[in-house]
Amino acid sequence: MQDATPQDGEHGQALSVQVWRSETGAFQSFTVPHQPSQTVLDVVTWIQRNQDPTLTYRFACRVGMCGSCAMTVNGAPRWTCRTHVGRVAADGNLRIGPLRNMAVIRDLAVDMADFFDKWVRAGAVFEPSETREDPMAAIQPDQPARRTADDAIECINCGICYAACDQVAADGDYLGPAALNRAWTLVNDTRDGGQSERLSAVTGPGGCQGCHSMANCARFCPNELSPTASIAGLKRAGIRAAFRRRK
Ligand code: FES
Repeated sequence: MQDATPQDGEHGQALSVQVWRSETGAFQSFTVPHQPSQTVLDVVTWIQRNQDPTLTYRFACRVGMCGSCAMTVNGAPRWTCRTHVGRVAADGNLRIGPLRNMAVIRDLAVDMADFFDKWVRAGAVFEPSETREDPMAAIQPDQPARRTADDAIECINCGICYAACDQVAADGDYLGPAALNRAWTLVNDTRDGGQSERLSAVTGPGGCQGCHSMANCARFCPNELSPTASIAGLKRAGIRAAFRRRK
């Protein structure tokens, strides 16, 4: 273990940081230099490089594209590479833990297997209705279905909405906001051929009816998407399909 002495950064006082350690099942305290424009991911990286190389966490792009760096920061799920310390810890105190609603692999890294399995269960996978030999489908940018899909398309699979969702916490079978949001984009994809199976999946057990519209997903989504609105769309689509079946 390296022994670095925390210096006050150019930005002033050192930060008091608590980080979840899975080995002890408790938060461990660190003192970290405060730097200008410092992100929470910078803080975690500084600790790993200067205080404890065994600290485990996950990141890749550092620019808000890959979605792998999400953690719980001072009680809220956040993408740490785009979260500046000054915005969440004005008093210089940070408490960093793993995302809620997922099993912890080690320290700040969570197991996302259930999260992605639920995408498959929700039919959140494109099912082509044509072959590669067919002419390319022409989808106009102002087509209403495309605009609806576009509103929900910029999900980066970070798991923040899933961690924020109280319904996921209460019901481990619930598919969750990310999978349902993705399913909604495909319900509105006119090229997709798997609509009836998808609608059965998202309106069945663990599906969209479990959402209580508390909107924590929309509140914390770093890309400002609204899975709540997407899930409401699925509920409407499910009701329309049920009426069609009765005719
Ligand atoms: Fe890729 Fe943060 S490291 S989104």
